Amino acid sequence: MSTVTLTINDTNEKFEFEVLEPTLGPKVIDIRKLYTQTKMFTYDPGFTSTASCSSNITFIDGEKGELRYRGYKIEDLAQKKSYLDTCYLLLNGSLPSEDELKSFDKEIRKRSFVHEGLKDMFKTFPDKAHPMAMMSSAVSALSTFYFEHLDVYDEAEYQVLARRIVAKVPTLAAFTYRRSLGIPFIYPDVNRSYTENFLYMMRAYPNENLKISPIEIKALDTIFTLHADHEQNASTTTVRAVASTGAHPYAAVSAGINALWGRAHGGANESVIAQLEMIGSVENVDKFIKKAKDPDDDFRLMGFGHRVYKNFDPRAKILGKLLEELKHDLGIDLELLKIAQKIEEVALSDEYFIKRKLYPNIDFYSGLILTALKIPRKMFTIIFVIGRTVGWITQWIELRNDKELKIARPRQKYTGPKDNKI
Ligand code: ACO
Repeated sequence: MSTVTLTINDTNEKFEFEVLEPTLGPKVIDIRKLYTQTKMFTYDPGFTSTASCSSNITFIDGEKGELRYRGYKIEDLAQKKSYLDTCYLLLNGSLPSEDELKSFDKEIRKRSFVHEGLKDMFKTFPDKAHPMAMMSSAVSALSTFYFEHLDVYDEAEYQVLARRIVAKVPTLAAFTYRRSLGIPFIYPDVNRSYTENFLYMMRAYPNENLKISPIEIKALDTIFTLHADHEQNASTTTVRAVASTGAHPYAAVSAGINALWGRAHGGANESVIAQLEMIGSVENVDKFIKKAKDPDDDFRLMGFGHRVYKNFDPRAKILGKLLEELKHDLGIDLELLKIAQKIEEVALSDEYFIKRKLYPNIDFYSGLILTALKIPRKMFTIIFVIGRTVGWITQWIELRNDKELKIARPRQKYTGPKDNKI
């Protein structure tokens, strides 16, 4: 057993802690007994050096720019497998056989309908409601229809409620869009694949046998795969924190959706396109790079930088390549693409960005593809929700099965007054 020793310099006391060995990635110092032994806490805002759980779902090597789901490289999954293969992989730990995929796909299609009462709930939202607000409310409301799951302790039941939410999320997502336009909702079509069905529910007129091109389906399916999980990011940590209290899993996912909404997280994809449009032309790129570097200006290059990736986000690389391949077939806005490519070129050779290891992240290119798919900007983060729901619910299952589970309850360094008197 490997250990580390902590020496308190003031008193010369020594405390020994075990070092845990992960299968991949940095070793982990087990400090669970730190407080009982030393009467001290650690201080780590934003958990930059803290592992909050053990997990065998997703691995990221931020220095190398590597991402794996259940040990499989993201590049291989994006190229050779569908999003539903990836969902099955995350939920079950192994890729499906042909028959397993067929029956998984069939079940997901059949579970894609939502209760009419839930559909009617959308009527109560105001016209200008943001789709993310409608989405988190609808997913939270989903728990009112499946309340019995609050007390399940059985893996087979966990899997049912996981497949149910994965199946229903695209339907609810399409409803947020239709509600924002005030146009009739389109029910799922069980003859269409997962990703095709979502585009169909977004775009079709009632009773229209709308054709969706395979290129569009492939592009969106890849985007879903790239978003499927990303270990203990802010929204997943939120899902786990809520779940650790024993709350309903759909309530935990709803909390994750709210965490994802912020600009520093999933909301960045909405801001990237707005920023590219604001920059307006390749000639203006240098001016905005200068603004991003100015410590007195709070302007940031959206779609750049990442807490974990200190190298290229591998998902951004895949999307950059996909953009090049599909730019003519998909009808990408070539002017915005040129601005994005210029930003990437300038930033990657600039001392400020090199020193801080700021590279394009997944959001840098996803917006250009989503725009070409005629998905409006306010729906961008919803696309992230559809892709990530399987990750959140897989993490929820892992948490429920975790024998070391504790309610999420960090400590603090109190800096307030010592003893005020009335
Ligand atoms: N543009 C300009 N400077 C930046 C940027 C950026 N996009 N990102 C970080 N920096 C600078 C910071 O100003 C800071 O500089 P300093 O050391 O001189 O003070 C340094 O780089 C480190 O930045 P932090 O904010 O401390 O890094 P952190 O890991 O906390 O933040 C984050 C990561 C939130 C993603 C940040 O890079 C950011 O705001 N990026 C833009 C928003 C974005 O694209 N978010 C999507 C993330 S991916 C996802 O959630 C799917």
